[in-house]
Formats: sequence, C-alpha cells, structure tokens
Amino acid sequence: MSVDEHTYAPYVKLAGGGILIFVALIFVRRRWFSSISDIPGPFLGSFSVLWQIVHALKGHTEEETIAEHRKHGDFVRIGYNEVSIGHPDAINEVLKSQMNKGDWYRIFSLPDSRYVNQMSEVDAKRHITKTKNVAPGYAFSNVIKAEPYVDGALQVFERQLDTLSEAHQPVNFDEWFNYLGFDIMGEVTFSKQFGFLEQGRDIGNAIANTRALGIYVAIMGHFWWAHDYLLANPLIGYLNLQPTMHIFDTALAAVDARSKNDKVRKDMIEEWITMRKKHPDRMEEKEILAAAVANIGAGADTVSATLQALFYNLLRNEDTLKQLREEIDTANLAEVPTHEETQKLLFLQACIKEALRIHTPVAFGLPRVAPKGGVTVLGRHFDEGVILSVNPWVIHRRREIFGEDADLFSPTRWMDPIRSREMEKSLIAFGAGYGQCPGRHLAQMELSKTTAMLVRDYEIRQVHKGECWKFETHFTAVPYGWPCYVTRRRKP
Ligand code: HEM
Repeated sequence: MSVDEHTYAPYVKLAGGGILIFVALIFVRRRWFSSISDIPGPFLGSFSVLWQIVHALKGHTEEETIAEHRKHGDFVRIGYNEVSIGHPDAINEVLKSQMNKGDWYRIFSLPDSRYVNQMSEVDAKRHITKTKNVAPGYAFSNVIKAEPYVDGALQVFERQLDTLSEAHQPVNFDEWFNYLGFDIMGEVTFSKQFGFLEQGRDIGNAIANTRALGIYVAIMGHFWWAHDYLLANPLIGYLNLQPTMHIFDTALAAVDARSKNDKVRKDMIEEWITMRKKHPDRMEEKEILAAAVANIGAGADTVSATLQALFYNLLRNEDTLKQLREEIDTANLAEVPTHEETQKLLFLQACIKEALRIHTPVAFGLPRVAPKGGVTVLGRHFDEGVILSVNPWVIHRRREIFGEDADLFSPTRWMDPIRSREMEKSLIAFGAGYGQCPGRHLAQMELSKTTAMLVRDYEIRQVHKGECWKFETHFTAVPYGWPCYVTRRRKP
C-alpha cells in the first residue's frame, strides 16, 4: 500500500460509513415516520420510487396496481411520497379538484424544456390558462370541419389494406392504426399529413422510437429535474438527436410554413394563432408549437391502442362482432361513414366505450399534489406535498361499478341506458377535471368512423388464430404482435 492510500484510507472508510448511516436514516424516516407510513402497499414503495420503476421496466404497472388495490383496499402506498387511490370518489375529490399536477408531468416538455405545453404545465392556474388558450382548436365545432380530411386519410388507409390483401400479406394493425392516427393528427393540427399512410412505413422510425420514449418518460418522470440535461436539453434538438425527430421536424416545418402563408384551412394552429392575436398578453408564441407537438405525442398511439383493443376483442367474441356488423350493415352508411351517422349506432358506441374501459390507453396513475394545508380525500387527511394518484385501470376494473364480469370484454353492459349513465360517471379513459383530454371529440370521431368502415368493409382474421397480443404499459398501453389477414367483404 502506498503512503497516500495509508493517509486517506481512514477518511474513505469514514465517508463510506457516513453515507450508509445517511441512507439508513432516510429509509427509517420514510418507512416509519412519514405521514403516510400507515398506508399499506408494496415494500419497495414504502421508502422509494423503486416499485414504480421496476414495474415500468417490467411493463405491467396497471396489473400490479389493480392487484395491490384488491389486496389492500382504496389506499395503496406505491411510493415513499405517493398514494394510489382506487375508489371512484377520487375522480371528484382528486382529479376534478384544483390540485397541482405531480412534477412527473414535467417530463412531457418536448421537443425541449423551452416548450412547456398544457400536459407538462403542473401549476393548476397556469395550466387552466394554457387550456383556455388552445381550447378553440379542440372544440367539436372546429374538429368537425376536419371531417373531409379524416375521410381522405381513411380512404388511403383502405386502399393500402386492399393492396396488402391482394398480395396476401399480413396487416400489423399496431403499425397501421398508428400511421392513421399520426396522419390524422397532422391533418387536423396543421393541415399536413406526415406521410405514414401513403408510404406505408414507419418513416424515420418515429413510431418505434415513440415506444422507447414511453419507457424513458415513465422512469425519468421521477427524476424530471435531470430531463433538462437529457432529452429536453436544447442541444439534443439542435444536434437532431431526438428519437422522434421526423415528427418534431414535420411539426416545426408546418408551423414555420404557416407564418409565410395566409391562404390556409381553419385547422387547430389557425385557431391558436387567432387566439394569440386576441390575447397576446396571456399566450406566448411558442405555446403554439408546444401544443402542436403535445397533440402529436398524445393523439396517435392512444387512438391506435383503442382501435386495436376493439378489433382484437371483436375477433375473440364472434357474437359481439355479428351483432355489431348487423347494426352497421342495416344502417346503410355513406362510403366513408359520417360522424353524425355513427353516433346513432348504439351498439357501436357501446363497443367503443367497452374498448376504452377494458384496455384503457392511458394506464398510469394520474398524479396530483396535496395543496398547502393538506387535503381530505375519502375522509382521510393527507399532508401538503403528498402525491395522490388515480389509475384509470384500477377504477375501470371495480366490480361493484362495472359488474362481476368487469375483467371481461362485454359491450352489452352499456346497452341499458340507466346502468350506462351510472357507469359513465366512472369511465375516465379521457381523464377528468382540468387535465382531461382535450382531444376527446376528435378521438371519438376517429374511433367511430374507422370502426364502422372497417367492420363493414373487411373480414379480418389473425394470422395465428387465437394468438395473444403483447403490450407493455408505460404512460400508455399500446399493443403489438397480432398480425392479421384482411379480405374485402364489400366492394367500394
Ligand atoms: C382514445 C384516444 C385518447 C385517449 C384515451 C386519451 C386520453 C387522455 C388522458 C387520460 C389524458 C391525461 C389526463 C391527465 O393527465 O390527467 C389526456 C391528455 C391529453 N390528450 Fe388525450 N387521449 C386520446 C386522444 C387524444 C387526441 C386525439 C388528442 C389530440 C387531438 C389528445 C390530446 C391530448 C392532450 C393535448 C392532453 C394534455 C391535456 C392536459 O394536460 O390538459 N388526446 N388524454
């Protein structure tokens, strides 16, 4: 051993011992002396965020959270400072309150940290202002104007399905529904498709990379402060290293082109530009790009997941498919079914609600933070700063609300209007309160038209009958791995 090592060895040991004692004290304090120490839950959750990280990596946080609630009841401590609430009253008491959103959401500032969109704005007041600024773009009266362009995208989609069918090639709906979702988002947001449908491929690996981004988001949301140095570092954008650069580039180019062109459609961006002209004091210019990017991040794989859930379950429930097809066939719908027509098809709407319930695309606890002075939820007080989260999957599997068969796909549960109204109060696939999904009108249009058109026009069968799909839940639960063959059943 050298002289230096002799000199420093006792100090190194001392520092090591000090760190150990420090970590042990944090463990003891979090585990036994926190204001939520009495709440049951998994061991790792009682002193760290490791339980959430482990299950984000394993990919089934939703199943684990349901199991924990079935074991422990309405409150489960899933993190050293986070309680998951599984009771439907939490919809009103937590999600519909004005509590700030959890810091976890800051991770959604993309393409970089300069762009705080409505999703990543955690302060309730500022969030509500941002929501008001962009609301006209999402209003049903605006979205419906885009219907002809949604129709155009659906026609390209069917043309591509026909080509695959004639070549006897399988259709990977995880890819194709995503192409459809992205191209519709481009049309509606800035009047420009990304080109996924026309090219029939994942341009720039944007969709594959979005999956990788899902894992990053689920884990790094707990360490959001490091996000600024990683993916949200403007240098990464500058060097073109973002994993979904094709998407950002297309959005940037479309927003930029808009400033030089005044002969444009009344799309979302146009609504936002008009809003900014009216309220320059409360809306910054960069909010427009931020909102466009948020849309593209939020509005494609969620729609794809729901469409997949619907078709995957229809293939497993022949009687349900038959009943749906009868309703659609007798309705004598337009070549591309109109939104108005599809809203009258009660069984179709029941199937869509059931798909949103049984395989809810956002499969993550939606976190809110107990405000100054704390808050009482379901009769229990929570200190200021405690994170309270509500996972839609947990609520959607409550048997006393949705029935003993809550774990099964059964659209008929929505056919009794009285029961349906009651269940709808607990259907939070689009969230609830000030953070709820502004894209729900567009999503409803896409889901209704696409399902009606495909069920009417094609026979679909899995390449390997009965093979189970795969999915991992990060923020969203987007399935894959269930290739199908399609054949025309109705001539165009
Ligand atoms: C079936 C399809 C969809 C589902 C299930 C869905 C669900 C959700 C949920 C659960 C949230 C978050 C609520 C929260 O954090 O508390 C959300 C937020 C959001 N969604 Fe959707 N969404 C869908 C489609 C869309 C579409 C098509 C768009 C764009 C037009 C969109 C844009 C957004 C945006 C911008 C946010 C952030 C809202 C905010 O934080 O205020 N979504 N969505």
